[in-house]
Amino acid sequence: MGIHEKLRHLEELRQRAQAGGGPERLEAQHERGKLSARERLDVLLDEGSFVELDRFTTHRTVGFGLENRRILGDGVVTGYGTIHGRLVYVFSQDFTVFGGSLSEAHAEKIVKVMDLALRNGAPVVGLNDSGGARIQEGVVSLGGYANIFLRNTLASGVVPQISAVLGPCAGGAVYSPAITDFIYMVRGTSYMFVTGPNVVKTVTHEDVDMEGLGGADVHGTVSGIAHFVYDTEPECLQSIRTLFEYIPQNNRDDPPRRETADPFDRGDQELLDLVPDEPTKPYDMHEVIRRVLDDGRFYEVHRNFAQNIVVGFGHLGGHAVGIVANQPAVLAGVLDISSSAKGARFVRFCDAFNIPLVVFEDVPGFLPGVAQEHGGIIRHGAKLLYAFCEATVPRVTVITRKAYGGAYDVMNSKHIRGDINLAWPTAEIAVMGPKGAVEILFRKEIADARDPEAETRRREQEYREQFAHPYVAAARGYIDDVIDPRETRPRLINALDMLQNKRDSNPPKKHGNIPL
Ligand code: HXC
Repeated sequence: MGIHEKLRHLEELRQRAQAGGGPERLEAQHERGKLSARERLDVLLDEGSFVELDRFTTHRTVGFGLENRRILGDGVVTGYGTIHGRLVYVFSQDFTVFGGSLSEAHAEKIVKVMDLALRNGAPVVGLNDSGGARIQEGVVSLGGYANIFLRNTLASGVVPQISAVLGPCAGGAVYSPAITDFIYMVRGTSYMFVTGPNVVKTVTHEDVDMEGLGGADVHGTVSGIAHFVYDTEPECLQSIRTLFEYIPQNNRDDPPRRETADPFDRGDQELLDLVPDEPTKPYDMHEVIRRVLDDGRFYEVHRNFAQNIVVGFGHLGGHAVGIVANQPAVLAGVLDISSSAKGARFVRFCDAFNIPLVVFEDVPGFLPGVAQEHGGIIRHGAKLLYAFCEATVPRVTVITRKAYGGAYDVMNSKHIRGDINLAWPTAEIAVMGPKGAVEILFRKEIADARDPEAETRRREQEYREQFAHPYVAAARGYIDDVIDPRETRPRLINALDMLQNKRDSNPPKKHGNIPL
């Protein structure tokens, strides 16, 4: 065969690889509102940047008639490309080839890009659409999964790992996305569960469909497994591109700076009236966040899960930052099991990847109740405390209103290495709110008073004057300054500039033992 003939042969093989499971299965994929594995990469990556690896890989399975059904690429498209010009490794499972199921060869392709990502310090984005372990391969396929899980774990905290679940993801297969940093899902086509509806029916007699058991909204709202949920795949993939505006390439890299025309010294008049005079009245912390960040751009993580805490990314004076904020508009902003775990995981991501933390605090404490206590609020609340305690990135806090009890300590207080802690004049920093405190301290006096209600009010007022302000904390240096709310943005930018070369470390150890 001469070179031209060999080139024609190569081109033919390339086209076969490109075709995946064939036009009929591709059409079925489209009919479900799903893109193909390659179309997804086209949306995700910068145009023309994708370089494919291992397109000629085939499975090695013998039996079940599979000897005669070798499909080039074996159900996953792998390689690398760029997002906003930055290197990223990718794999995209092809449901048209044996349902995207994972064979030994398919797993080896994924492992190869993960190893490259770790060696070259670049993020990995996995687009999952798979029927799970290739049934015909048995334990070899399970071994393939385990090889991926190991890489997910070793890469955790070294390079960002992002998973989009764009089809079924069942059984042990869920554990690879679960170890990665962020999970994206799409309504109506993405599913994640350890056992599907049929098994559930047999074991627990519960009647539930795929969507109700492990659909995108279930995981974005109830379980918290999904960090981002979208209506369509293109929106979902575009959103992954947006995430890259905030995250670095690896744990030794700094997050990208973003130029902005938003003046660094911009004050905001509206912030003055945002906190209601009545301490129990809610307000929306999103409003504070948006008014302070560059161009009002906030990329919220876990938007619909545990809404009593708000976490997400933004820029301040060009610095990428991770925001952690209590949300007085939901459950008065209390910390509970879900919000503690949500906050802790986000804090740890930011700390692992050198993203400074900015905390907005208005927290009345931990949520009381039997369900919370029995559910382990002690263990879960400790996660958030632990996460803040161990974080060595620049850390700035603004107390807008309540900072009560243990939650005062937890929410990035000075004592646990908060770098710059500011308070608005509306801040109330105390062991507890006036009502609870007075009931404990003056129960007898109130009971004996001629007018118990008036006595309660008088005692509460007394307590308020003594504790419900930021000046005791400021006198101790626990608060660095009490600021005019309108100055919040310039003061935060100033603090972040000041802290940009911060160096801090934790004692040498194999690893800590965060309460799980
Ligand atoms: C081999 C598979 C497969 C699998 C699907 N296919 N799953 N082939 N191994 N695991 C094939 C089908 O035979 C079919 O081939 C094609 O993919 C499309 O599948 P359909 O069933 O026609 O598609 P659909 O109706 O959309 O259903 C999708 C599905 C279903 C819900 C994913 O296929 C399914 O339940 N598959 C099995 C899921 C499962 O139990 N996996 C093992 C989980 S345990 P043709 O040739 O007809 O197109 C696991 C362990 C992980 O993964 C281990 C980690 C520790």
